[in-house]
Amino acid sequence: MKPALFLISFALLSALSACYYDNSEELYGTTPCDASAVTWTADIQPMLQTQCVSCHSGASASAGLDLSTYTLVKGSLSTVTGRMNKPMGDPLVMPPSGPLSTCNLTKLDAWVAAGAPEN
Ligand code: HEC
Repeated sequence: MKPALFLISFALLSALSACYYDNSEELYGTTPCDASAVTWTADIQPMLQTQCVSCHSGASASAGLDLSTYTLVKGSLSTVTGRMNKPMGDPLVMPPSGPLSTCNLTKLDAWVAAGAPEN
């Protein structure tokens, strides 16, 4: 390879990899979604606690649905995931303000696929 050609290839490659780096930073931020080790305790319970339990617990729980314990969530799992996976704008989506982030829904899927363990 001629030295000039080598230099041009090198410059092109560096430019391309710099571009790739910028894009991934922009798309995923500094913490990409990691759904590889999802647990009830670290991920699912806190998610439901902050997003659902204010309406779904206690004597006046919306729709009579209490989501404050593992057993109660497990007992209504298919209804819960069904309503959480409705798209934005669907009158049935939960929470009513709109669906959770794609990352949270991916974590929910991974947990359900693992058998929804109390881990
Ligand atoms: C602001 C209050 C509020 C929040 C927050 C909320 N919900 Fe609801 N939810 C309601 C109300 C009101 C209903 C009854 C009306 C309806 O079915 O849409 C309901 C109904 C439901 C139902 C249907 C129950 C049934 O037996 O048909 C499910 C499942 C549900 N919510 C799950 C969730 C989940 C999961 C979250 C959190 C991701 C959540 N909700 C967050 C108010 C809320």
